[in-house]
Amino acid sequence: MAPNETRDELIFFVNGKKVVEKNVDPETTLLTYLRRKLGLCGTKLGCGEGGCGACTVMISKYDPFRKKILHHTANACLFPVCALHHVAVTTVEGIGNTKSRLHPAQERIAKSHGSQCGFCTPGIVMSMYTLLRNKPEPKMEDIEDAFQGNLCRCTGYRPILEGYRTFATDSNCCGRVANDTGCCRDGGRENSMNGGCCGGKANGPGCCMNGIGDSVTMLSSSLFNSSEFQPLDPTQEPIFPPELMMQSQAQQKQLCFKGERVMWIQPTTLKELVALKSQHPNAKLVVGNTEVGIEMRLKNMLYPVIIAPAWIPEMNAVQQTETGVAFGAACTLSSVEEVLKKVVAELPPYKTEMFQAVLEQLRWFAGPQIRNVAALGGNIMTASPISDLNPVLMASGSKLTLASNEGKRTITMDEKFFTGYRKTIVKPEEILLSVEIPYSKKGEYFSAFKQASRREDDIAIVTCGMRVLFQDGTSRVKEIKLSYGGMAPTTILALKTCKDLTGRDWNEKLLQDACRSLAGEMELSPSAPGGMVEFRRTLTLSFFFKFYLTVLQKLSKSHSSTKNLCEPMPSNYLSATELFHKDPIANAQLFQEVPKGQAVEDMVGRPLVHVSAAKQACGEAVYCDDIPHYENELYLTLVTSTKAHAKILSVDASEAQSVPGFVCFVSAKDVPGSNITGIANDETVFAEDMVTCVGHIIGAVLADTQEHSRRAARAVKIRYEELKPIVTIQEAIEKQSFFKSIKRIKKGDVKKGFEESDHILEGEMYLGGQEHFYLETHSTLAVPKGEDGEMELFVSTQNPAKTQEFTANALGVPSNRIVVRVKRMGGGFGGKDSTILTTAVAVSAFKTGRPVRCMLDRDEDMLISGGRHPFLGRYKVGFMKNGKVKSLEVSYYCNGGNSVDLSYGVLDRALLHLDNSYNIPNVSSTGFVCKTNLPSNTAFRGFGGPQGMMIAECWMSDIARKCGLPPEEVRKLNLYHEGDLTHFNQKLEGFTLRRCWDECLSSSSYHARKKVIEEFNKQNRWKKRGMCIIPTKFGISFTVPFLNQAGALVHVYTDGSVLITHGGTEMGQGLHTKMIQVASRSLGVPTSKIYISETSTNTVPNTSPTAASVSADINGMAVHNACQTILKRLEPIKQSNPKGSWEDWIKAAYEDCVSLSATGFYRIPDLGYSFEKNEGKPFCYFSYGVACSEVEIDCLTGDHKNIRTDIVMDVGTSLNPAIDIGQIEGAFVQGLGLFTMEELRYSPEGNLYTRGPGMYKIPAFGDIPTEFYVSLLRDCPNSKAVYSSKAVGEPPLFLSASVFYAIKDAIYAARQDSGVTEPFRLDSPATPERIRNACVDIFTKMCPSAEPGTFKPWCVRV
Ligand SMILES: Cc1cc2nc3c(=O)[nH]c(=O)nc-3n(C[C@H](O)[C@H](O)[C@H](O)COP(=O)(O)OP(=O)(O)OC[C@H]3O[C@@H](n4cnc5c(N)ncnc54)[C@H](O)[C@@H]3O)c2cc1C
Ligand code: FES
Ligand code: FES
Repeated sequence: MAPNETRDELIFFVNGKKVVEKNVDPETTLLTYLRRKLGLCGTKLGCGEGGCGACTVMISKYDPFRKKILHHTANACLFPVCALHHVAVTTVEGIGNTKSRLHPAQERIAKSHGSQCGFCTPGIVMSMYTLLRNKPEPKMEDIEDAFQGNLCRCTGYRPILEGYRTFATDSNCCGRVANDTGCCRDGGRENSMNGGCCGGKANGPGCCMNGIGDSVTMLSSSLFNSSEFQPLDPTQEPIFPPELMMQSQAQQKQLCFKGERVMWIQPTTLKELVALKSQHPNAKLVVGNTEVGIEMRLKNMLYPVIIAPAWIPEMNAVQQTETGVAFGAACTLSSVEEVLKKVVAELPPYKTEMFQAVLEQLRWFAGPQIRNVAALGGNIMTASPISDLNPVLMASGSKLTLASNEGKRTITMDEKFFTGYRKTIVKPEEILLSVEIPYSKKGEYFSAFKQASRREDDIAIVTCGMRVLFQDGTSRVKEIKLSYGGMAPTTILALKTCKDLTGRDWNEKLLQDACRSLAGEMELSPSAPGGMVEFRRTLTLSFFFKFYLTVLQKLSKSHSSTKNLCEPMPSNYLSATELFHKDPIANAQLFQEVPKGQAVEDMVGRPLVHVSAAKQACGEAVYCDDIPHYENELYLTLVTSTKAHAKILSVDASEAQSVPGFVCFVSAKDVPGSNITGIANDETVFAEDMVTCVGHIIGAVLADTQEHSRRAARAVKIRYEELKPIVTIQEAIEKQSFFKSIKRIKKGDVKKGFEESDHILEGEMYLGGQEHFYLETHSTLAVPKGEDGEMELFVSTQNPAKTQEFTANALGVPSNRIVVRVKRMGGGFGGKDSTILTTAVAVSAFKTGRPVRCMLDRDEDMLISGGRHPFLGRYKVGFMKNGKVKSLEVSYYCNGGNSVDLSYGVLDRALLHLDNSYNIPNVSSTGFVCKTNLPSNTAFRGFGGPQGMMIAECWMSDIARKCGLPPEEVRKLNLYHEGDLTHFNQKLEGFTLRRCWDECLSSSSYHARKKVIEEFNKQNRWKKRGMCIIPTKFGISFTVPFLNQAGALVHVYTDGSVLITHGGTEMGQGLHTKMIQVASRSLGVPTSKIYISETSTNTVPNTSPTAASVSADINGMAVHNACQTILKRLEPIKQSNPKGSWEDWIKAAYEDCVSLSATGFYRIPDLGYSFEKNEGKPFCYFSYGVACSEVEIDCLTGDHKNIRTDIVMDVGTSLNPAIDIGQIEGAFVQGLGLFTMEELRYSPEGNLYTRGPGMYKIPAFGDIPTEFYVSLLRDCPNSKAVYSSKAVGEPPLFLSASVFYAIKDAIYAARQDSGVTEPFRLDSPATPERIRNACVDIFTKMCPSAEPGTFKPWCVRV
């Protein structure tokens, strides 16, 4: 039947309101519809590819097949709006709000400090809400599983889990109601394995946390009080719209929706479906759209006809047959999971081997939002070589039924099914109707394995399904099928190996022959796409080895007759067969309570909730792209270079003009002022005749909508003459391509130091860069005001003043015409110091005289903007037999990219932190910024400090190994003492690091646990544990002295309310909350009377960027000073009416014509360091901390598990312990990503492959340490900052190095079992690939690396 030529109406509900859409465009996603059409901006765009969960909504529908209402989460960014017919959508705005009542899922995340920048919060709230709708009494594991598809870059996840733990039936927590009688939150360590500390509970002199002296300090672990939480009342939830219920049950008719380029047809019967497919053989069948949506968004594919089979009964049926379970191809993965779990529980285990393997694969398949919508058939028909299910289906011999106008046919999924990359034998006019997964037989065993960069929500590097059937009552192989994904352009079977193994006995000899054969059969070219060639090859053997051991174990358990036929498995091999399991989480956060007698309304030192948290949790907080649209607004899409180094020969925008809605193309010639920009004046607003990196901005297209501007930008044609790029540090060194300023710090006599040393070690360490991955990408809205060149800019920036200056420069107007306004950012981490997007948007607004908006797509943001600098450190270190360091010579090379930007500052900080916390008497250090053809690398939390310190810890751990001494002893021996001079000759005063060290060593029960680990390692050959304790000392101040200044403006209104503006921006770090606390104490008024609206250049001018951790220090002092000015003016009025209220005084002051507005200013005194003379003070003071981490690695796969971390951190007298602990945990987890997970991958030509969460993995909920303890050092006031506090944003990040070196420790144990003991090189991050390759064994030896230089690698280390 031909589709209806008239347009159908799309009917659905959003938050209980009916939506009837007459002109729906099938290319529109639910997210765009919600945000643009309905103005519901609570649902956020974080990635647009299903990888971050910021867009999570709840979908409710009546399932006519199961006859019940189903609620599930989905990613609105991939959900086609056309798929919403007869569906109810609930967004974060639909469940609660700050005006009436927050839903408990909103209230608890806000009050437990689980929302920092808040950009991820609505998505997380909706995941929790949906879980509660389906299961009002969840277990903790359900909660953890519900968040597999949500990312947060700020919080480190712990507070979110902790807040939501209050919903869990197995949390065993009284919510601290039983505060005196042993609540689990008080001193969590008490309950933890081998924990040595009472968590300050035994408050007397006996507790390790109370240190020396007899001062009694009250410690608290109550960051929130759950007894204040509203109870969850499931009966109060909105009901499913009755109208939809009726409509869903009624007979459906075929639907057709037509847009500008795409037609969407939704048939109701199989007959209609196959007829449509024969009529449109190239049409795509869309169920979840998790593959097609990505192709259209990221790969620029256009599918003019889409057929949605969601309503076809046969495609959704589930049937238990004689031979297996048959699923309709449109069954979602969640429903497959649900059915198989039931079947596994009901049937004898021998029959469900295959089902259990499918369930194991589904456990790690994407996140719930994807699994809830993605179809089994979609996974098969996508024919991805890294599909998780295809190897299982292939090895199990699953049956596929295909249907067409001609009828049906059933085939077995075997080696002939996939005919090439993303191709199958299914004919264009056929559809996949159903999939039957067979029962296993007696004597048949099946396993599936997957290794990815991250355990949760990640596609596989290598994945497999393995099946063996034994001859009756024997251990002789009757049939074997080994199927792999990730080893070829398709899922493949190891046919030759399987043939060789058939008829053989399951023994050591079979294992050896199988590995040898697989090593030959699973060859990969050294240039294979995806890289990681040795790792992938080794994994094929490791997986087989795991399968071999698993089967051996099952065989010996199965029947007594085979028991004797099998070789016994060594007991220390047992853990190699264990599947990953989660341990219950445990944590405690300890901080010093405010002194007894502190006024109740004085909030300094108390865990005040982030002032925007509730708004963020309700989706009410306004981010840049949430600002309502202007009527004549235009949308901008950038046109960027696809070459790393080239001359631009021509730019042709003529084709773009034919795209509907196109307005104009903007380029360098449209810049009215100067096209030259950047901190070192070495950048352009738009490239003119040369591009120096992929992603270099060449121009911009303006159109009426985002979709049209995107399309038009793709149509702009650029011709290049390519030049040879320099991409890597190595290439830059070879070609001496450096930015000119080379930095040096020299102290003592290095040569003499080496002569006096017992040993000298030389080495090298490389640290990869890091993408900021703030959840909100760069965005700008520029509004020309129509007079005298005035322009108002709403920008997601950490640097309003530079944004103003650079915009004025580009527009050729004075700075006083430009106002930059920042309400909040969805994360910054240094990445929003850059003005990369804003100048282009401002020039476009200037040219057209119309408001122009742009929020970069995630892939554009990752491509265009630089990140953390990759570093190469080369060192030579001299030391004594006892591990005491005598002399150090070190060179640091960082990859600066194509412009200077902040690279000199980053390098300076790296050199100033090359000592980490160690006293090195003789130092010679040199630093180079490599000039390469990559996007310019820039500020990132830590600003070079972590890289500088990481290399120090590298040689420190080598020294300990070389001396054969415990690493913690060598580290402690070298720690500074109070009063020591650093290598840059700054005296250490108030040096609390040794206190942190001792407390951490004690509270982590380091020595007792070390013994347990040694024992574990003896008893486990293929799993190893490691532990490491690492200190950090972080210098506080901008190293450019004049930046250490801040301004504030305080207004008091006649009703007594106070409005503050200061120079810092809010990006989630809680700066505004802290400033309100400061003002509250300074003025002596409650925080409820104080408000901060935004940061703007017309209120506080010439602000320093919100960076270098000092914002609370300097802005806090500026706010304090402004408040003092007002208080001084109020003094006479207060004296004349001492019993009056704040409101009385303010009213009187106004009537007395006393100014109630004041500015405040502050600068840090006495700063200024000279590299040439090695004298002067670069830092105002130092923040200190120590962390101890324990990990477990899987030596066969390179996987690792973070078992426990203990942190002791000196934050002075905390202004707000909840915010400070939030910064510590967030920074630690971000560092965990830096040192163990996040890897930017570039082609040899400088093209970034990792452009979204699909390929670039930041830590997820499941990656944080299972046990996570943080305590703030007590009694350590800091005289150098506001109210004795200390900076906290950056210093804790480096503590995650403890995880990296714990991994290295575990690898040492693995290597020892292979007879290798000498120090080895481990570069950062310690990914599964690096861990596996370093655990040398018989399998790695079978997969040697190709000779470097003999091939072109797929990716290079930049
Ligand atoms: C964030 C994210 C994470 C992911 N993680 C994983 C993962 O861990 N493991 C993994 O294997 N995959 C993963 N994927 C890939 C994807 O989710 C799966 O392949 C999914 O099963 C596709 O199903 P779908 O219904 O969404 O497919 P759709 O996008 O709707 O369709 C996919 C393709 O299959 C075709 N098709 C669908 N049904 C039929 C049919 N019945 N007959 C003929 N052709 C049909 C369509 O024409 C289309 O070409 C992930 C994807 C995303 C976006
Ligand atoms: S925006 Fe949808 S998952 Fe990231
Ligand atoms: S609070 Fe989660 S991303 Fe910022």
